[in-house]
Amino acid sequence: MHIYRHSDVLLSQLSELIPKTIGLVPTMGALHKGHLSLIEKAVSENDWVIVTIFVNPTQFDSNTDLVNYPSNLEQDLELLSPFGEKLMVYTPRADDLYGEKAVAGSYQFDILEKTMEGASRSGHFQGVATVVHKLLSVFKPTKAYFGEKDYQQLQIIHALVAQLKLPVTIVDCPIVRETDGLAMSSRNTRLTPIQRAIAPVIYETLCKAVALKKQTSILQINEWVTAFFREHPHIELDYFCVANNQTLQLVEETNGEENLRAFIAVKLGEVRLIDNVKF
Ligand code: PAJ
Repeated sequence: MHIYRHSDVLLSQLSELIPKTIGLVPTMGALHKGHLSLIEKAVSENDWVIVTIFVNPTQFDSNTDLVNYPSNLEQDLELLSPFGEKLMVYTPRADDLYGEKAVAGSYQFDILEKTMEGASRSGHFQGVATVVHKLLSVFKPTKAYFGEKDYQQLQIIHALVAQLKLPVTIVDCPIVRETDGLAMSSRNTRLTPIQRAIAPVIYETLCKAVALKKQTSILQINEWVTAFFREHPHIELDYFCVANNQTLQLVEETNGEENLRAFIAVKLGEVRLIDNVKF
């Protein structure tokens, strides 16, 4: 495993190797088994894999969130070391990617960036698109790997690649969960023991919503979820919705088709968690 602070050093190293397939796995570090599943897939499908660890400032709308983002490079490198020689780890400072000033670019994603996470985190997806666009342009990977955990982000990246006709295959990777169903997330480490014990109810609610779809309308399911969390002493519901799995247009009636997904965002104290399932 090789570690690089500067993209030009990594690129010059790559240019010395026989050109082969390159897999890219962008991350913000604080790695867990969810991230590792993307890396395992990339390692199994490519000759070289670049894992980037970079807490991207332009996707945070609040400086407090940016400063509080968990980071543990030493532990991350330990988790990555078993992947061996195939792996190149890129952990830059912001100026290596952005130059003097880290600012987001301007992209058109319409509803994809306005709904759900976009509604409560202004500018977030412009920042994500900016950094992913930079990484794809610099490293020109054959394939790039992203998790369905951040399903809306994944659709934004598909749109980015399609709009700019970037020569890369985006690989969608399934959500990795704890044994009790909670979707793995770097933010889970910020939960108190009590919050952690009740957090599986997020996924349980999504599963119940799916089970209910046979006997009741989406509108009624929305009402049931809202009422359930209104009574919940520890969890505040930000949103629950069912949407088309590509356009992310909200849907109020099942159409009998296989193209729907249910999404949820909640707050446990200060910690905001998201999850989604096929609906
Ligand atoms: P980060 O939150 O570190 O996630 C990196 C990648 O890991 C994303 O594609 C995310 O969807 C995936 N991932 C996280 N938890 C997962 C889980 N439980 N199961 C499967 N995949 C999971 O997402 C970002 O970083 C950033 O926005 C980034 C794309 C790196 C741009 O800065």
